[in-house]
Amino acid sequence: MRELKLTPIKNGTVIDHIGNGLALEVLRIIGVRELDKDSTVSVALHVRSQKIGWKDIVKVENMELSPRKVNAIALLAPTATISIIRDFKVREKRPVDLPDRIAGVLPCPNVNCITNQREPVESEFEVARRRPVVLRCVYCERLVDDFRNPLA
Ligand SMILES: Nc1ncnc2c1ncn2[C@@H]1O[C@H](COP(=O)(O)OP(=O)(O)OP(=O)(O)O)[C@@H](O)[C@H]1O
Ligand SMILES: [Mg+2]
Ligand SMILES: [Zn+2]
Repeated sequence: MRELKLTPIKNGTVIDHIGNGLALEVLRIIGVRELDKDSTVSVALHVRSQKIGWKDIVKVENMELSPRKVNAIALLAPTATISIIRDFKVREKRPVDLPDRIAGVLPCPNVNCITNQREPVESEFEVARRRPVVLRCVYCERLVDDFRNPLA
């Protein structure tokens, strides 16, 4: 069945197949308050999905996501897909994808880690496990498996 839950957009980004209830966190990552006030943002929560049962969807006009934001979304919502819309058509569609190393997206939870001292050292993790995702700090080796506040 054709999905008509949200108004079509001419140009922008669709983040679909977001795990149920995670769209508000995705909006926080995108930083909707910083967006151009002429861009419509539509959000659907708890939409029936063939693939993942229930899902959320976010559609943002006139915006493309930075790689850093895509990484943050991938940690939070690994089932999400990102589609680029140009002139009402899907120009590109890809699953979010975690690179082997993730820098500057979330802080290390170890307060003694060098990335939490008064040093200009950006946090950096390597992927220790993929399903479910576990990250390891490249400086202090602390493992992280809670991604509720990326880019906070
Ligand atoms: N003009 C548009 N405006 C807003 N959203 C769009 C537009 N065209 C496509 N989409 C959305 O972009 C995503 C990808 O589009 P596509 O037509 O490939 O969806 P689909 O056939 O439902 O595929 P799937 O759900 O398997 O990714 C879907 O979420 C769709 O709703
Ligand atoms: Mg679909
Ligand atoms: Zn660390």
